[in-house]
Amino acid sequence: MKFLIINGPNLNFLGIREPGIYGKQDFTALIAYVETVCAENGIDCETYQSNHEGDIVDRIQAAYGNTDGIVINPAAYTHTSVAIPDAIKAVSIPTVEVHLSDISAREAFRKISYVSPVAVKTIYGKGFTGYQEAILYLKTLLADNGRK
Ligand code: DQA
Repeated sequence: MKFLIINGPNLNFLGIREPGIYGKQDFTALIAYVETVCAENGIDCETYQSNHEGDIVDRIQAAYGNTDGIVINPAAYTHTSVAIPDAIKAVSIPTVEVHLSDISAREAFRKISYVSPVAVKTIYGKGFTGYQEAILYLKTLLADNGRK
């Protein structure tokens, strides 16, 4: 099984950026955590981070035909982008949406996600653990569909 883990804008500033909301651990620690979870579960994983919407669209398109599942934290693009959910729909790769913070309990604009309708699951407010939950959810979903 091959997964692509995408992190959107400003997540490369984890640890520096609003630690009261996003935690004190930095982006390198998040990537190490995700890679460990994937390795423990026999999943090939590639990670990708970008601050640019079109680059994220390009990366999703590049996954077409060679990736079993996507975990994405679209960050601020969650609440503004139509192109990212369109790309997810275009490639038909099962995708779990993750947010570190509880987007349901913050500003009103964060309650709207354009990605949720195309995601097989949305996880928020669980910090790094949300990525583990997303990876395990996709693994089970794909195993049930007969993928190795
Ligand atoms: C976020 C929540 C978004 O509202 C915000 O713009 C982010 C990070 C999260 O992980 O909690 O950049 O996706």
